[in-house]
Amino acid sequence: MLAGRRIVLGVSGGVAAYKAAYLARRLVEAGAVVRAVMTQSAGQFLGAQTLAAITGEHPVEDFWDEVEVSPHTDLGQWADAMVIAPATAATIAKLATGLSDNVLIATALATEAPLVVAPAMHTEMWENAATQRNVETLLADGVMIVGPLSGALAGGDTGPGRMVEPEAIVAALEEALAGAPARARVLDLAGYKVLVTAGGTREPIDPVRFIGNRSSGKMGNAIAAEAASRGAQVTLITAAAPPSGSAVDVVSVETAQQMADATWSRVADVDVAILAAAVADFRPTGVGDSKLRRGDGLPVIDIEPTPDILAGIAAMENRPYLVGFAAETGSLEGARRKATEKGVDLLVGNDVSRAGSGFATDTNEVTIYTSSGESDSWPLLSKPEVARRLWDRILEDRTPG
Ligand code: CTP
Repeated sequence: MLAGRRIVLGVSGGVAAYKAAYLARRLVEAGAVVRAVMTQSAGQFLGAQTLAAITGEHPVEDFWDEVEVSPHTDLGQWADAMVIAPATAATIAKLATGLSDNVLIATALATEAPLVVAPAMHTEMWENAATQRNVETLLADGVMIVGPLSGALAGGDTGPGRMVEPEAIVAALEEALAGAPARARVLDLAGYKVLVTAGGTREPIDPVRFIGNRSSGKMGNAIAAEAASRGAQVTLITAAAPPSGSAVDVVSVETAQQMADATWSRVADVDVAILAAAVADFRPTGVGDSKLRRGDGLPVIDIEPTPDILAGIAAMENRPYLVGFAAETGSLEGARRKATEKGVDLLVGNDVSRAGSGFATDTNEVTIYTSSGESDSWPLLSKPEVARRLWDRILEDRTPG
């Protein structure tokens, strides 16, 4: 979604300015064209040269030392979206009142593109009635606010006011570019490390043929994207096309064995693992280098079991919170049985033979089972909505009371 999009990155003067360099890099990696604009005090925290090296163009720092006559209107008109990260209390106040006494604010006023603001300041300043009032004004003006988080602040203090990580800002930008209405983004998965598997594996029969299944990866993609947009650090291990967004680390695999290796080597490090992939249970043995020929007669294909990825995680001593999926046809009794027998915390069952549910559709009708066999049936929903509810449910489960 960011590929080819023109993003103006505004940096104001807070310690979190160092993270703006990383944000710029994430945006460039996602294919965006990035131009930066900095306030004078941002220069105390981040070198203009650093941003120039990452974006390929020197940031705009002042109205006066530019070749262009009107750098702020040029930038504002050029932008497909603008993000201000970090946004200090002063920057937020100036934005809320339209006080364009520096080139960053002037650019923000001069653009008609969507604006995302990532506040960063000390807790007292964030909680100050004036700042809160200004944030409300910005939201009412259609500005997307992302964060802040609670965490370590400058000078050794901790509390609300810490700027969100660049991945969450990228997700907010994608939402803003997609035309979503402005909102204060809830980052209730901030600090979470999450692993999601998706797609259907392909098990080679010979160099050109494989045994596969109809999984599109859409459900797993929606789960990964939702987690990233709520502030989690997400690894998506997929045998299908990943989501177009860039806020997720993607590991592409093809076979069950590759998915198992990629998953098991990363899973010890995560808080939640959601295995939405449709993994082949069997694979052909003795796959050769050359194509099977029709003229050689009917081949006999021997098969062997693939590794059970979920079972490997369930058996770990300190396993993460574990969610399995079960694609069933007809009765969901198999899903209930898997929920109680497979050592998961939750199991998402769906009947893939129903219209609008399961593989390759944009909707899904699922029933959630707990390890004690209790169930909760959800109506037919879009896959992103299923993902949203699933994360709400996981958070409820992980924070008792
Ligand atoms: N799974 C896995 N590794 C496999 C097969 C499945 O990790 N080799 C995971 C899937 O990602 C899913 C869950 O296990 O989260 C259940 O998959 P499913 O194929 O329904 O389970 P099976 O035990 O293979 O059940 P069935 O009897 O229906 O074949």
